[in-house]
Amino acid sequence: MYEDRIRCRALHDRIMSADAAALLFRDGMIVGASGFTRAGDSKAVPAALAERAVAGGEPLRITLITGASLGHDTDRKLTEAGALARRMPFQVDGTLRRAINNGSVMFVDQHLSETVELLRANRLGRMDVAIIEACAITESGAIVPTTSIGNAADFVLAADKVIVELNLAQPADLEGLHDIWTPAQRPMREPLPITRVDQRVGVSAIPVPLDKIAAIVVTDMPDSPSTVQQPDADTAAIAGHLIEFFQHEVSRGRLPKVLPPLQAGIGTIANAVLSGFAASPFEALTIYSEVLQDSTFELMDSGKVSFASGASITLSDPWQRKVFGDLSRYRDRLVLRPQEVSNHPEVIRRMGLIAINTALEVDIYGNVNSTHVGGTHMMNGIGGSGDFARNASYAIFATKSVAKGGAISSVVPMVPHCDHNEHDVDVIVTEQGLANLTGLAPRERVALVIEHCAHPSYRDYLRDYAKEALQGGGQTPHVLRRAFEMHLKLASDGTMVM
Ligand code: COA
Repeated sequence: MYEDRIRCRALHDRIMSADAAALLFRDGMIVGASGFTRAGDSKAVPAALAERAVAGGEPLRITLITGASLGHDTDRKLTEAGALARRMPFQVDGTLRRAINNGSVMFVDQHLSETVELLRANRLGRMDVAIIEACAITESGAIVPTTSIGNAADFVLAADKVIVELNLAQPADLEGLHDIWTPAQRPMREPLPITRVDQRVGVSAIPVPLDKIAAIVVTDMPDSPSTVQQPDADTAAIAGHLIEFFQHEVSRGRLPKVLPPLQAGIGTIANAVLSGFAASPFEALTIYSEVLQDSTFELMDSGKVSFASGASITLSDPWQRKVFGDLSRYRDRLVLRPQEVSNHPEVIRRMGLIAINTALEVDIYGNVNSTHVGGTHMMNGIGGSGDFARNASYAIFATKSVAKGGAISSVVPMVPHCDHNEHDVDVIVTEQGLANLTGLAPRERVALVIEHCAHPSYRDYLRDYAKEALQGGGQTPHVLRRAFEMHLKLASDGTMVM
C-alpha cells in the first residue's frame, strides 16, 4: 500500500520505524514539525521522541517550532517527558500551558505569519530536523502535505535533515489541494501575487533534495478531531448582531453586497459566528482564513460559500468523515496555503478582509486581551489574530460578555495584557450587542462599549469607573489606582462582582 504513495523508488530504502527515527535527535536541537490547529501534524515520531526522553539515559530537551497547535497529545507527551525546553509559536495543550506558566518551558508567542521570516533570516538559530506529515511523495521526491501546510514548506528548506511521516489514514486525493509559494529573500522580494481568494500561484508539493530525507516513517492515524462546542444562544446572538451590522454597512454603501473575503479565528465562538451566516441574506461568500473549521463546510453545503482558502482543515469527527470521505464534493472550491501566505499582511490589506477573532477580554477603549488570563497566565497564544486584525478592513473582536458563569466580566476598565490595541480594533461584539468604534476617539468609545457590550450586571461598576476616569485629563483617561480593581477582586474572591 505505502509503496504506491512513495512514487520516488530511490527513497524506499529510507523507510524505518518511528523509534529508529527518534534516534536521529540530540539534546539541544531545533526541531520543526508540521501541524496547524491539530491538522496535518507529525504524530508518531514526536511520540517516540517523548518515549526516548522518558527512558532517560541522556539529556534530551529540544526547541519545538510548529505551524500552530498539535493533536494526538503531542505537546502533553513531550512536556511530561521533560523534552521541551522551548516552544513556539502557538499551543492549546493544558499540560504544556501549566509548564509555560510555571516557567519550565519557554514559550515564544508569535504572530503566525512571522515565524518563517525569522527562520529564513537565521534569527532563530539553525533548524536541525524537520518532521513533516505527507500523504504522498512524488516521483521527484517532493513531499505532498496533508490537511495543513502551516510552516512545513519552509521547515523543509531550513532544516539539515527531513523526516517524512507518510500517513496512510490521510486521503491520497488531498494531493493537488495545496498551493505552496515561498518568497525570495528580502529586501529584493517581489510582491505576493495573490489578488483573488481562489488564485493559485505556487506548486502542489514541497520540493526537497533527496539527500535531505533521513527517514520515512509510515503511519496510519487520522488527525485528532477538533474540540469546538456547538453554537449556543449567546454565540447565535453574536452572529445576529454581526450580520445586522454588515447589512447596515451595505445599506450605507460602505460594504459591497458581496462581502469581502471573511477570516474567522480558532475556537468555539469564531466557528459559531461563521455558522451564523447560514441564516443571513449574504451570498457568494468567500473565506480567506487560516483554519477552515466545520462552519466553512456547512456554508459550502448550504451554497453560501463559493470558495475557501486556508492553511489547515480542522474538523470535528462527523465533519472529518463527511469531508475526507468524499473530498471530491469540495476540492474545486478549496485551496491550502502556507500560513505565511494565508496570514500575509499584503494580501489581507489588498483584499480588504473582514477579520473576526475572539477576545478573552476587552477594555472600555477597545484594547483587546486574547492571550493572558488575569494579565499574567498564557491561555493559547496570539495565533494569527494580530496578522489579520492589523491589516483587515474590518477588525472585529467577539466574546461572550461574561465567563465562568458570570464570575468574570469580559469588559473591564483596562486590559492587564494587550494583544490588539485600540488602533487596530474596529468593532467589538458580545451577545449583548455591538460597538462600532471606527473613527471614534477613546473618550467617545467608552459609553458604546459599556452600554452595548458589557453584561448588565457589570454596567453600573463600569459606568462609575468611566465617570471618574473621564473627569480626569488625557486622551485615554484612567484612574490608575482603580484600573485593575475587577482583576484584583477576581484574584482574592474568585469573582469580579464588586
Ligand atoms: N478570563 C478567564 N477565562 C476566560 C475569559 C476571561 N476573561 N474569557 C473566556 N475564558 C475562558 C472560558 O471560560 C473558556 O474556559 P473553559 O475552556 O475552561 O470553559 C475558555 O476561556 C475558552 O473560551 P470560550 O468562550 O469557549 O471561547 P473560544 O473557544 O472561542 O476561545 C480564546 C477563546 C480567546 C481562548 C481563543 O479564541 C484564542 O485562543 N484566541 C487567541 C488566538 C486567536 O485568536 N487566533 C485566531 C487566529 S487563528
